[in-house]
Order: sequence, then C-alpha cells, then structure tokens
Amino acid sequence: MKISVIGAGTMGTGIAQIASTKGHEVCLYDSFEGSIENAKTSLEKILNRLVEKERISSEEKENIINRINFSEKLEDIKDSGLVIEAIIENLKIKQKIFSKIENLVSEDCIISSNTSSLSIASIAGACKNAKRVVGIHFFNPAPLMPLVEIIPAVQTSDKTLNAAKSIIDEWGKVTVIVKDTPGFIVNRVARPFYGEALRIYEEGITDFATIDWALKEIGGFRMGPFELMDYIGNDINYTVTESVFTSFYFDPRYKPSFTQKRMMEAGFLGRKSGRGYYDYNSEFPKANEDRDLGKQILWRVLSMLINEATDALFLNIASKEDIDLAMTKGVNYPKGLLSWADELGLSNVLNQLEELYSEYGEDRYRPSPLLRRMVKENKTFY
Ligand SMILES: NC(=O)c1ccc[n+]([C@@H]2O[C@H](COP(=O)([O-])OP(=O)(O)OC[C@H]3O[C@@H](n4cnc5c(N)ncnc54)[C@H](O)[C@@H]3O)[C@@H](O)[C@H]2O)c1
Repeated sequence: MKISVIGAGTMGTGIAQIASTKGHEVCLYDSFEGSIENAKTSLEKILNRLVEKERISSEEKENIINRINFSEKLEDIKDSGLVIEAIIENLKIKQKIFSKIENLVSEDCIISSNTSSLSIASIAGACKNAKRVVGIHFFNPAPLMPLVEIIPAVQTSDKTLNAAKSIIDEWGKVTVIVKDTPGFIVNRVARPFYGEALRIYEEGITDFATIDWALKEIGGFRMGPFELMDYIGNDINYTVTESVFTSFYFDPRYKPSFTQKRMMEAGFLGRKSGRGYYDYNSEFPKANEDRDLGKQILWRVLSMLINEATDALFLNIASKEDIDLAMTKGVNYPKGLLSWADELGLSNVLNQLEELYSEYGEDRYRPSPLLRRMVKENKTFY
C-alpha cells in the first residue's frame, strides 16, 4: 500500500521513515522551498547513524531512502491507501489541504491528521466524504515512541477506524483508541505532571531540583517535570497547556502557569536555548533530599495525575487499559496511573485530593465523581 505524508517537518519525516522502513512505497510532500531537501538530508543523517550502530545495513538504508518520493507536487499522492497529514497546526490551512487531498485520492483512501490539538471533526468537516477521515497521532520522535493515538471523529466510519488501527498496529506501534476531545489521552492526562509541579514551586514549598528529585527518586519517573519541560521546550509545553485550557472552556484544572509563561517570554526555552529552569552551561543545583518532603511532593502530583486519568475514564475518553497504556508508552510513566491508584489504595488518593481541595478551596483539586463512587463502593480499577 502506498502511504503519503503531507508536511516534511519533524513529524512528517519521522512518519515517512517508519512507513518506508516497513516496506511501503512512500510519498513525502511539502510545499515550502527547501523543506523537502532538509527532510532528505535529516533522514539520511538519521539512517547513517543507524548504519553506524549496526541497526540497519547500508543496503537497507538505500532502500528506505529509495522507497520515498520526496515531492513538491501534491498530485504525487494519487494511488495512496493512506494519507497522513503533518503540516503546520492551523485549522484553516489543514482544512484547505484536506479538501485538495480528497480530490486527488480514490474513494477508499484513508485521510488522517497527526494534529495534537485540533479536533478531528473540524478537519474532517472540510471533506465531502468525512467518513474516511481519522486522527492518527504519533509522538515525537515518531520512529522511537511506541504509542500512537487513533482518534475517530463523529463522522468517521468503523471501517476507517479499524483499517487505520490495523495499519499502525502492523507497523509495530502500540495503538489506543481515544475520543475526539482536547489533548486526546496523553496531552490531557499528563497536564498535572507539569501544572502541579509548577504550583508547588510557585507556593515556595521548594525548588525545581528537589521537585525533580522527588518525582524521579521516590516516584520512579524517568525525568522530573522541570527537566522534562526543559527537554520538550517551555514554548511548546506552555502552548499545549494553554490550548488544552482554552479548549476545555477554561477549566481551572488545566490553568497554565505564569512561571512557565515568563520562561517562554524570556527565551528560557530549555535545553535548546541553553537555559530553562536549569542553566545548561553550569553545574546543576543540588536537591534537598528530605524524603518526607519528597513524599509529600510525589503524593500531590501523583494524586492529581490519577484524578485526571480517573476523570478521563469517567467521561469515556478511552478504556482503562488504553489510558494506562498511553501513559506508559507515550510518556514513559513507570506504571499505568489507574493500576498505580489500585496499588496506593483509592481511598488514600481521594483523601489526598480532599485535603488539597479543603485547604485551597480551588476547583482544580475537585475529585472525579468516579473516584468518589469507587471508594464508596469499595471498588478497584482492575
Ligand atoms: N512536534 C511534535 O512534538 C508533535 C507531536 C505530535 C504531533 N504533532 C503535530 O504534527 C504536525 C506537524 O508538526 P511538526 O512538529 O512536524 O511541525 P514542523 O514545523 O516541523 O513541520 C511542518 C511542515 O509542514 C510544512 N507545511 C506547512 N504548511 C504546509 C502546507 N500548506 N502544505 C504543505 N506543507 C506545509 C512545513 O514546510 C514544514 O516542513 C502538527 O499538526 C503538530 O501539532 C507535533
């Protein structure tokens, strides 16, 4: 099956690499001068590194490159079985290209978007036959991150959903099915990892290094929230938070932080700018390794994460298995949040949230109705 990828940036190039590695004929299209050349150069660099590490042979490398038609003509996508759009995150521009794509491919071609924050329904709305439109959301870097969220819009047919899922499963990815709601699973459920950590810092409870230490050392997370925000980039992470907050009609649970906004405004973007919460040109500050303080920090962040995962289940955003898989395979959490909740005891999680809620009187700490119900009925998730 021929796969076409629209937009040869970070995500598009990664997705084209996966499809070609799996043996598909690929068309990688971009309309901007220089983008296609850059994509080819960056892909060659990545593949050369894989050859050096003996992950692939040089013959395989040549085949991967040769199977891709690096194109600046949209007509080259004809005869595709699946089109994956990964252009700029702008609804009007995406809608425009979707209506063009629809006129070039056959009726049974699936057309998908890799959008992180726009609704699939709004993109599909630009097509005459919206039944064949679906969200296929990869994580960065696409060839390395195992998770892919598959998002049916209200218009999507079951046939499209099942076919899209089975293609991505065949690529060896872990797929989860998620409702067309802001942030899908990962970008919604992960918000408190950043937001609550920032809040703890803003209250003056402790510093970045200690919060990171607590989450890593006691919680088992691979990276602390501040390290991770610096890695992702404060501009990108802030923008995702703001977009989720706006899309949820300003639910205070997703409220962005001034601390992060100022970081972004100051150009302290993280690793890529040499400075974020940490200065990457000097020694890292030491954490205050007080285990009692560390446990308090972990409990506060973790109970908020579990509450978010529980609420996603309450609102039928995805199955409990998919919510847990998404967080372990999409953002490397040490455990699925719902099975972690069972381990910790749901009543302990609820108590922590109720303490926060009564101390602050803020809606952001409101426990999910499902958590209350489960504690009342003495139930566990698994
Ligand atoms: N970067 C991430 O971490 C990430 C993760 C998951 C999903 N996404 C989503 O993937 C999409 C692409 O993100 P990215 O980070 O690869 O962006 P990017 O800026 O690296 O690449 C976008 C590419 O699209 C091209 N483009 C823009 N408008 C176009 C048009 N009208 N026609 C053809 N090509 C066009 C640009 O020239 C550029 O090469 C966005 O929808 C984003 O939300 C990004």
